[in-house]
Amino acid sequence: SIYSITALILAYLCGSIPTAVWIGLSFYGIDVREYGSGNAGATNTFRVLGKQAGIPVMLIDILKGWTATNLAYIIGVSTTGPHNSVAFTNYALALGIAAVMGHLFPIFAGFRGGKGVATLFGMILAINLHAALLCVVVFIVVLLITRYVSLSSIVAGFTYPIGVAFIFPVYIKSVIIYGMCICLLVLVTHQKNIERLLKGKESKVNLFKKKVT
Ligand code: G3P
Repeated sequence: SIYSITALILAYLCGSIPTAVWIGLSFYGIDVREYGSGNAGATNTFRVLGKQAGIPVMLIDILKGWTATNLAYIIGVSTTGPHNSVAFTNYALALGIAAVMGHLFPIFAGFRGGKGVATLFGMILAINLHAALLCVVVFIVVLLITRYVSLSSIVAGFTYPIGVAFIFPVYIKSVIIYGMCICLLVLVTHQKNIERLLKGKESKVNLFKKKVT
């Protein structure tokens, strides 16, 4: 319906809010895409501008995915049926992906955005809390051990489909299929990071100090 299409556009616009670029430009006069990894995400904001900027970017980017996915409750129930139905869940997933596409290709920042990790996390948080929390735990463990955010994102990305398929099962097949797509998407957006990791050239994040190596 016209409402569901409007909501998909709203979800894309919501994901398109280029938090890293706007916070960097407004408070520091810096476009984070010109420094560090060149990515418009929380990690690079943390790397370039420190945690005072990185943490809000992370939280807002998570909120974008969560809000967009939850738009389904406003429109989805009337158009797709009860919130535990397959159609509703598919619609919520489509909204989340629309927000992630916005984050990757933001209309408000010349279509040069981030890698979608925080926004994807907001999306899966709205879909399956337990699987999302499992991903956070895995992310933190890998980060503490390796200090590579990119590697932590990739391993957490693999954890999600495993989580929804086996550990905290969602009995809707599309969630598992989307989970596998999310995992692939994370691999695609992290291609450069993977190359750097393989060459031993990926930058490590210093979690306890502002300066990053
Ligand atoms: O959230 C993106 C992260 O996994 C990697 O970011 O800036 O190190 O490429 P970056």
